[in-house]
Amino acid sequence: MTAQSSPKAAIADRLAEARRRTYELIEPLDDEQLNRVYSPILSPLAWDLGHIANFEELWLVQTVGAREPLHGDLGRLYDAIENPRKTRGELPILRDAELRSYLADVRERALDVLAEVELSADAEDPLLRGGFVYEMLIAHEHQHNETMLQLLQLVDGYEPPPRPATEPPPPGPEALAVEGGEHEIGAPGLERGFSYDNERPRHTVELAPFEIDRTPVSNGAYIAFIEDSGAEPPLYWQRDGGDWIDTAMGRRDRIDPDLPVIHVSWHEADAYARWAGKRLPSEREWEAATIAAGPNDDNPLGLPGAGRAWEWTSSDFLAYPGFAAFPYEEYSQVFFGDTYKVLRGGSWATHRDDLRPSFRNWDLPQRRQIFAGLRCARDAR
Ligand SMILES: [Fe+2]
Repeated sequence: MTAQSSPKAAIADRLAEARRRTYELIEPLDDEQLNRVYSPILSPLAWDLGHIANFEELWLVQTVGAREPLHGDLGRLYDAIENPRKTRGELPILRDAELRSYLADVRERALDVLAEVELSADAEDPLLRGGFVYEMLIAHEHQHNETMLQLLQLVDGYEPPPRPATEPPPPGPEALAVEGGEHEIGAPGLERGFSYDNERPRHTVELAPFEIDRTPVSNGAYIAFIEDSGAEPPLYWQRDGGDWIDTAMGRRDRIDPDLPVIHVSWHEADAYARWAGKRLPSEREWEAATIAAGPNDDNPLGLPGAGRAWEWTSSDFLAYPGFAAFPYEEYSQVFFGDTYKVLRGGSWATHRDDLRPSFRNWDLPQRRQIFAGLRCARDAR
C-alpha cells in the first residue's frame, strides 16, 4: 500500500481539506470582523475558529494522544454548552495572530498523534476503531463551516464561495407515494461507516401509507403563500416594488422563484404546509421516502432537490429505541426532548460528504438563520 492510499493519509488529506474550506471562508475578513458580534444567536467567527481548534485538541491531541493542552484550561471558553452564543463575544478567547497560531499548532500535534495510533477495524479503543474520532472531527469542522456561513449572511459585501451546482429536478409527478408497513430507518453500525450516536441503532418503524412531494417548496410557491396569507417573508427578504429581493450579505438580488425556500422557521414551515392542504412529514417518513426514492452517487439523499435546503419535519428530537450515547453525552443526548425539532437532508452550505439519509439535525422551532425550508407530505388518499 502506498503512503497516498493509506487510511491515515486519507484522513490527513480530509482534515486538510476541511481546514482549507474554513480558511477560505474567513479569507476576505479582517480581525475586527472575526471578533465582531453580529447577532446574539450567532457566535463571533473568532469563537468558532478557536472552538474548532479546541475540539480538535481535546479529542485528537489530549484524549487520543494523552498530551497536555497548549493553553491550560482555555478549553472551558470553547465549551458550547457552558457558553451560550450570546455570551461568546465577551469571553477572553484567543484572537488575531494568537488564534491563527493555535489552529496551526493544534493541527501539527494532531498529525503527530495520527502517525502513532492504531486505527484498524478491531482497534481496542472504540474512538479509534475504523478512525471514528477522526471522522467525528472532520464532520465537526464541516458543520461549523455551515454555522459560520449563517453568520456570514450578516456581513455586508461578503462574497460567499460558489454554491454546488443546482440541476432542476427532472419532470415527474408532484408527489411520491410511499407504501405503508414496516420500514427500516437509522444508521447501521459503525463498522459500516461513520454516523452520530443519535442516528443509531437502525430499527424498524411502522408507517401508514403516505405521499411526499417530489421537490422542496420553492421560493415561488412560498411567495404565493405569503401574499395570500399575510405571513412574514423569510429572513433577509424585502419587498421592492412588485419584486421580492434577498438582502443577505448586503446584496439586493431578485429572489429566484425556482430555488427551494430557505430561512423559514418551523412554525412558518408548518403554517405553509397547512395552507397548501398538506402537512410536514415526520422524520421517519422523510427517511423512508429517501430510501424509497433510491439514494445514489449523484444524489445520496434520493429525493429530488434534497441537500439544497434543510427540511423541517414534524418530529421532536428524541432518542431512538436502544440509543447509547457515544462518545459523549453532550453531542446529542442533552438535547433530546420536546424543545427541538428535527431537520433532515442538508443545505447548499452542507459539505457533500455529510449528506446521508440517516443524518438528523435539530434546532429550535423559532429559528430562521439556518438554511432551512420544507417539503410537504400528506396521508395517502
Ligand atoms: Fe462544535
